[in-house]
Amino acid sequence: MMQPMRLRLRRQGRASPLLCLSAAILAAALLPGAAVADGVTPSEARLLRDEVKDMFYHAFDGYMQHAFPLDELRPLSCQGEDSLGGYALTLIDSLDTLALLGDKERFAAGVEWVGKNVRFDINKTVSVFETNIRILGGLLSAHLIASDYATGMEIESYDGQLLHLSVDLAQRLLPAFDTPTGIPFGSVNLLYGVDDDESKITSTAGGGTLTLEFGVLSRLTNNTVFEQVAKKSVRGIWARRSKLNLVGAHINVFTGEWTQKDAGIGTSIDSFYEYVLKAYLLFGDEEYLYVFQEAYKAAMHYLHHDPWYIEVNMNSGATVWPLFNSLQAFWPGLQI
Ligand SMILES: *[C@@H]1O[C@H](CO)[C@@H](O)[C@H](O)[C@H]1NC(C)=O
Ligand SMILES: *[C@@H]1O[C@H](CO)[C@@H](O)[C@H](O)[C@H]1NC(C)=O
Repeated sequence: MMQPMRLRLRRQGRASPLLCLSAAILAAALLPGAAVADGVTPSEARLLRDEVKDMFYHAFDGYMQHAFPLDELRPLSCQGEDSLGGYALTLIDSLDTLALLGDKERFAAGVEWVGKNVRFDINKTVSVFETNIRILGGLLSAHLIASDYATGMEIESYDGQLLHLSVDLAQRLLPAFDTPTGIPFGSVNLLYGVDDDESKITSTAGGGTLTLEFGVLSRLTNNTVFEQVAKKSVRGIWARRSKLNLVGAHINVFTGEWTQKDAGIGTSIDSFYEYVLKAYLLFGDEEYLYVFQEAYKAAMHYLHHDPWYIEVNMNSGATVWPLFNSLQAFWPGLQI
């Protein structure tokens, strides 16, 4: 669940995104004197902490040296590539981790660079899911951290540039939500809206992984539209759950028909569960708690085969895929 370990993903809905706000959990683990889990001594905890830091800087420094300002680093060839939107994605995605690690200098330099150089009025068709969790989430968390004296990472000269960028970006994502179900298209062009040939099929994670960022943006701007579209999308998915209270993997955003009916906690669905719980924790909205409780109960009943989780047909509950997949690994973090 932690930022430095965030998995790279290739398609929307393939991994469990971690909103920067959850970084607080990692902060607790990294701070001296914080509670230590049973079975880990304080010195072991320090070693683990340092290992996490080393891993992060290995990746971050490699990116800055070889790939920046392109989106991502190809780790074997040490080439950069613009794999998503062409807006220094890895840097934006890493800002909150830099702050979390106490790296005020690189955090401030990163925020300043992004504020001056990143633009979204570009002819690029981007994944709504990826752009939300990485870019919008990265900008909003960095904005909150840089604006708040209490974080110890406040940037004196910071003038809200990242919030302005967030609003601009989110407005460019909004055309994707113009569907009969309220569940967004998987991709949208930042300049021209949804492409004519855009697929009407999206993943459950694609429609269920927007509430935190869009909700925070609404709270920061007093513009309720972002929070509303994200909630409508969750409702659109949940209203189409099966009688077993399971959701499938892929859905048609026009007809609301499930085109892939395998229910599971991993690939294509994962962060649907994560975000309904976190949306309740962050905003106190009990509708999300209710959805989470029903969805979680069904997952534990039909998907949990101790010690694994399997995939079953959302309607019949029959096993379709009895294998563990790596994207399920976030689940224990959700259960804490
Ligand atoms: C936008 O980008 C697409 C894909 O690269 C290209 O085919 C199209 O001509 C561009 N449109 C404009 C108006 O530049
Ligand atoms: C949002 O509304 C609150 C309460 O009315 C106000 O204090 C705040 O300044 C407003 N924020 C923005 C960005 O307009």
